[in-house]
Amino acid sequence: MINNKMAPILKWAGGKGQLIDLIVENMPRTYNRYFEPFIGGSAVLLALMPKNAYINDINKQLINLYKQIKKSPNKVLEYVENLDNELCNKEKYYENRDRFNEKILKKELDVECAALMIWLNKHCFNGLYRVNGKGLFNVPYNNKKNVKSVDEKNISAIGTYLKENNIEICCKDFEEFCENVKKGDFVYFDSPYISESDTAKFTDYTKEGFSMEDHKRLAKLYRKLDKIGAKVMLSNNDVKLVYELYKGYNIKPIEVKRMINRNALKRFGREVIITNY
Ligand SMILES: C[S@@+](CC[C@H](N)C(=O)[O-])C[C@H]1O[C@@H](n2cnc3c(N)ncnc32)[C@H](O)[C@@H]1O
Repeated sequence: MINNKMAPILKWAGGKGQLIDLIVENMPRTYNRYFEPFIGGSAVLLALMPKNAYINDINKQLINLYKQIKKSPNKVLEYVENLDNELCNKEKYYENRDRFNEKILKKELDVECAALMIWLNKHCFNGLYRVNGKGLFNVPYNNKKNVKSVDEKNISAIGTYLKENNIEICCKDFEEFCENVKKGDFVYFDSPYISESDTAKFTDYTKEGFSMEDHKRLAKLYRKLDKIGAKVMLSNNDVKLVYELYKGYNIKPIEVKRMINRNALKRFGREVIITNY
């Protein structure tokens, strides 16, 4: 069953909001624990609300955000509201962006870092999260002045859900994170996609990016988890390489509308859902 009570806090490239029904329809009926190694905006987790879940992402600031919300949603709210109460203009935007980048450089993973991440997501161009070669956030201002960055009820509901269930929040590379998966567990992989063209740059979520080697490593891990008896589902673009990497599994093509793409012609595309059950 899908829950509509909570929504992602951040707009996130590759967010699964519009595909939730299809994703959930294709999940196994029963399983032990839920694993999501590339949690991103967490649209799937929040719709599914599993009671025993392990979530993960390599983005340290994103994981800090979930940890802070689990610890104290009210504190996060307080900090975001303080940011919202200041008049926003170009100068303010770049001042807050610099503060966030200072936190990245000093590795300060605290409540202020979480609040700045939410605020920037609502005030930056297209709600993108993109970093430069040094790992610093470099998305420009969206020129909006009076934006409310959070929905209090939503943040509180997410905080309660994370606290009252067994939700373990990790910040590792996906392969290391999956060492904990056992027979009967369910893993949903929503990695950065294999690009359809070399111009698709919005998969550079981290300064490390996600290379072709990573895609091969992921396919190998998929087979390994299949062998140990886990149930595994994976989303990706409908491209030839995906059929080669996941040969032998169920590969189901689906039509999608793309939210983040500068080129209007590329706003429609085909993806696949791959399952081993
Ligand atoms: C397509 S997004 C996930 C979107 C998510 N399903 C949603 O609904 O928002 C992919 C995520 O993978 C993360 N990522 C990239 N490389 C990774 C790695 N090696 N290990 C774990 N996470 C990684 C990125 O930080 C990004 O958040």
